[in-house]
This record gives sequence, structure tokens and C-alpha cells, in this order.
Amino acid sequence: MAAKQIFLLNGPNLNLLGKREPDTYGRTCLEDVVQLVEQTAKEYGYEIAHYQSNHEGDLVDYIQEAQDKAEGIVINPAAYTHTSVAIRDAISAIELPVIEVHISNVHRREPFRHESLSAPVCDGQIVGFGVDGYRLATLGLIEKIKEGRRNNE
Ligand code: DQA
Repeated sequence: MAAKQIFLLNGPNLNLLGKREPDTYGRTCLEDVVQLVEQTAKEYGYEIAHYQSNHEGDLVDYIQEAQDKAEGIVINPAAYTHTSVAIRDAISAIELPVIEVHISNVHRREPFRHESLSAPVCDGQIVGFGVDGYRLATLGLIEKIKEGRRNNE
């Protein structure tokens, strides 16, 4: 039987992780983050499908695709967190648990980063734990999947 899937979605500029503003985002590259999430998920019998895109519409497509292919989503919408009604609406449209993650503590940063358009339609948010936040978000998501939680409840 095929392993159950979790979608890991990363938004714009996260392909540069490790090189991009290391004082804020650390020196771990995206590949290593994906491995960390894969290891965490594997312990609970889940496989990871990872997608990174710099384009808003791609992220909307992946969120929609998850509905039929995944048990839940860990997403870092990156800058789109603060601007994208389309990503919020896509999350809201599906019936899967979704956990939002931010590497940096966005609440300690510029005021425009304090608001997340997507967080209110997610099941949880992990902020400010560096890239370890992805592991924590994955564990949290697996708990929500076990509980049978759906977003907006
Ligand atoms: C981020 C925070 C966002 O404000 C920023 O635009 C990012 C990364 C984070 O993981 O801390 O690209 O989502």
C-alpha cells in the first residue's frame, strides 16, 4: 500500500534558503529542510511531496492538488503570507488540516509581516523556531490528521 502523503509547500525566495539573509533565516538549505521533514514524517508512516515556487498561482494549484493526494499540508507561504487572498482562499476551499510555518519570528520584524492572511484559515501556526519549525509543524500536522481535524472548525 502506498504511504500516506503530506504536502510540504514553500513560497517565494525559499529556494535561496541557506544563502538568503542567513542572520534571519539561518544557513540550512531547502534540501536539508526537506530531508528533516521527510525523516520526521517517515517515523509516522507518511511520505513528503515537496514543492517550492516563486509564483502565487503555482502555490494555489498545489494546495488544490493536495485535496486528492494528501492528508494535510505544511506551508510556508513566505511573502505571500502577508498579501495573498488567493492562497488564503485556496486553503479555505480544501478540507485538509494545514499548518503555517515561518522560520523567523515575524512578530519581531517589520509591521507588514505581523499580519498573516492565511493563518486564520489554517489549523495552526509555528513561528520563530528557525528551520526546526518545519519539524514542529509536521508533528503538529500529524496530530491534527489523527484527530481528524479539518480547517475552519
Ligand atoms: C518567512 C517570513 C516572511 O515575512 C518572509 O517574506 C519570508 C519568510 C519566514 O519563514 O520567516 O520570505 O515566511
